[in-house]
Formats: sequence, C-alpha cells, structure tokens
Amino acid sequence: MEQMQPEKEPVEVLAKPHGPIVVMSDLLITKPDGTTELRKGKTSFCGCGASAKKPFCDGSHKTLNIVDSNTNV
Ligand code: FES
Repeated sequence: MEQMQPEKEPVEVLAKPHGPIVVMSDLLITKPDGTTELRKGKTSFCGCGASAKKPFCDGSHKTLNIVDSNTNV
C-alpha cells in the first residue's frame, strides 16, 4: 500500500447513498474519450449510473426510486 506524503493534505471525498461521489478538490480529469477537463473546487461524479453526462452527476439520481435494503435491518 502506498504511503501518503506527510506534506499533502488529504482530499475529502463524500460518497452519498444512491447518489454522487463528491470530490472536494481541484481535479484534472481524463475522460474515456481521452479529452481532459480541469475542475475547480468540488466535482460530483455519478455513482448511480443514470447520468447522461457521465462521468459527472447531472441530478438524474433524484428521479430513481431506489429502496435501501439496509434501512429495513
Ligand atoms: S449520482 Fe447523480 S446522476 Fe448518478
């Protein structure tokens, strides 16, 4: 396992249930077609598979009717 560099701050990543994965940092993203995009601040990646703008979240997860099986335990 690679060790973290002590002088670097960890990047916060929020994995929302049935929704986006939000990365709180500036990013240089290489898309599947090879193009790159610089994002500043925070970026929400689609974690549900329904976005029409993958790899980014477009809010489509809000229209899904996902039942969380863990809530009925
Ligand atoms: S997580 Fe938002 S559209 Fe997929």
